[in-house]
Amino acid sequence: MKVLVIGAGNMGSAFVKQISAAGHEVSVAARDATKVAALAAQYPGVKAVLPASAADGKDVVVLATGYADAVSALQSVGNLQGKVVVDITNPLTADYMGLTLGHSTSASEEIAKAVPGALLVKAFNTLFAQVLAQGATLADGNKATVFYAGDSDAAKQTVKALAESLGFATTDAGGLKNARYLEPLAGLNIYLGYGAGRGTGIAPTWIGA
Ligand SMILES: NC(=O)c1ccc[n+]([C@@H]2O[C@H](COP(=O)([O-])OP(=O)(O)OC[C@H]3O[C@@H](n4cnc5c(N)ncnc54)[C@H](OP(=O)(O)O)[C@@H]3O)[C@@H](O)[C@H]2O)c1
Repeated sequence: MKVLVIGAGNMGSAFVKQISAAGHEVSVAARDATKVAALAAQYPGVKAVLPASAADGKDVVVLATGYADAVSALQSVGNLQGKVVVDITNPLTADYMGLTLGHSTSASEEIAKAVPGALLVKAFNTLFAQVLAQGATLADGNKATVFYAGDSDAAKQTVKALAESLGFATTDAGGLKNARYLEPLAGLNIYLGYGAGRGTGIAPTWIGA
């Protein structure tokens, strides 16, 4: 797949590492061109690109910015009509211990409203950057799960295939509305990792038939 990663921070860097290692063609864009160039230089074949028109010709756009920057970042990369966009954002409060919205909407639904035509899929938001950077198999030998939720079945299949190519287990979490559940699930993961002191090598999964 041809993948554009928007963001060169904790998650953007981990995506660039893992998606390029899986053999996909990766481009990366962010605000700070120096940071983007330094990130791209670490992995053979990864291209540092300017945001303008960066989405053109890509199969998937991974949005790896904070929620507050999500819409402007997506609007900066060109035409997203019919484009698969992976939304990993969690609308966190400043202390990371709460969500700024939920119950009756979600970050994904708000982003989808602001960028109509993009095929948004909520995914990867329940994985710590450390888990993504280190790879799908956790210290206890279990595979971490990528939950994915969206309203386009074709887009969800693309995101499932991308996640599986990175070695993750996957769970179809239904329509985009269910981002209302996935974002609080990430909040619980953050509480367990930081609040309860279990560290950032953990990830939620679902067991049973
Ligand atoms: N960190 C985690 O463990 C984790 C886990 C799951 C989900 N998430 C979610 O993933 C997202 C990213 O988290 P992070 O920890 O990677 O954040 P981060 O380290 O702060 O990185 C954010 C990146 O977004 C870029 N950015 C901001 N506005 C932009 C714009 N308009 N156009 C292009 N790029 C823009 C920033 O660029 P500059 O560097 O140029 O400013 C930066 O590279 C957040 O929504 C977070 O909730 C994080």
